[in-house]
Amino acid sequence: MDVNGERIQAWQTDSLPIYEPGLLEVVKQARGRNLFFSTDIAAAIDRAEVIFVSVNTPTKTFGEGAGKAPDLQYWEKTARTIVEASRGNKIVVEKSTLPVRTAHAMERILNSNRKGLRFEVLSNPEFLSEGTAIRDLEHPDRVLIGSHETPDGVAARDVLIEIYAHWVPREQIVTSDIWSAELSKLASNAFLAQRISSINSISALCERTAADVVEVTRAIGLDGRIGKRFLEASVGFGGSCFKKDILSLVYICESYGLDEVARYWAALLVARKLIEERAVVVVTDPKALANARADLRDAPEGRVVFEKDPYLAARGSHALAVLTEWDLYRSLDYRAMFDSMEKPAFVFDGRNILDHEALHAIGFNVFPIGKPPLKHF
Ligand SMILES: NC(=O)c1ccc[n+]([C@@H]2O[C@H](COP(=O)([O-])OP(=O)(O)OC[C@H]3O[C@@H](n4cnc5c(N)ncnc54)[C@H](O)[C@@H]3O)[C@@H](O)[C@H]2O)c1
Repeated sequence: MDVNGERIQAWQTDSLPIYEPGLLEVVKQARGRNLFFSTDIAAAIDRAEVIFVSVNTPTKTFGEGAGKAPDLQYWEKTARTIVEASRGNKIVVEKSTLPVRTAHAMERILNSNRKGLRFEVLSNPEFLSEGTAIRDLEHPDRVLIGSHETPDGVAARDVLIEIYAHWVPREQIVTSDIWSAELSKLASNAFLAQRISSINSISALCERTAADVVEVTRAIGLDGRIGKRFLEASVGFGGSCFKKDILSLVYICESYGLDEVARYWAALLVARKLIEERAVVVVTDPKALANARADLRDAPEGRVVFEKDPYLAARGSHALAVLTEWDLYRSLDYRAMFDSMEKPAFVFDGRNILDHEALHAIGFNVFPIGKPPLKHF
């Protein structure tokens, strides 16, 4: 169930509201059999024994913790709706990514009910990655379930274990206390982002020393202790979750007075840095312009322009910076772009996805990540 009627509508067609390879096939098999979609939230809550809450937890844009802490309003609203709609005891599973100790706040709301109902909260963080969600669901590295060590907590945990045990080997279903489970999700994303940050820092050294970060990555990734995954240099790290979850971790550390730990994890924002340097930033993206608008809504007047057409975005600019890996950007007519730009024209390939030699031959000064630049001066 979802409060968004359009999404619920779309789930019942072949144009699902999100794209994941293999998702449509799974939905088609189960739809109408044991998978139903509804906006009748109260009825669905009342019928459920176990409620998986996976509402959005975006970075807060207002008030205390704005720009760092997650906005828990949807989460809190859900807890209140569960209290109102329930007529029996329930297990409530935290699937959204939440700050450590959120279950405590959730329990406070749920167990404030005056109907004599008992709610047991479990933390079951979601580790899937966008793009491989179905594979990750079917073959997870592990399933983590955090619960209280009380008899009710353990009983609720066992119910959830039984569900996963239908397809996940028992030894891969890991249990822990509830706070460790909540923190493990943020810590996992922080560690993955840290690997990318580490190779990014080495890429800066490569650029100065004529070493090639792609070669370095291959060499160190073959070390079994290190492994190859999450080692590709780029500008920062992509996706929505890493940024949001690391900011959340930073905010938690700051809240506990652990400023040094917070500084260690803090991330860098490219567009903001450029705006601070008084650049005019033209943002282009085939899908994410609405999000970019929301992220940069407080930028000074006239400093950020949003343009869907990459050719119009490039026109009259001094430099192109590639910060996402859309295939579209591999096959643009860079000759036409070069002709429409101010000279000297620069390309900063923050994802190493372009043909650097070809761009250099067109006349661009090319700055890849972790490789020596190709310049005309
Ligand atoms: N997307 C991922 O790959 C991924 C991976 C791991 C964890 N997560 C976490 O899962 C959570 C959800 O992420 P998402 O990408 O699915 O977000 P999303 O924004 O795509 O979906 C959240 C949905 O919750 C609905 N919703 C909001 N309030 C509601 C309410 N009170 N009752 C019913 N529905 C409500 C929204 O309408 C929306 O459709 C986040 O905490 C995210 O960090 C996401």
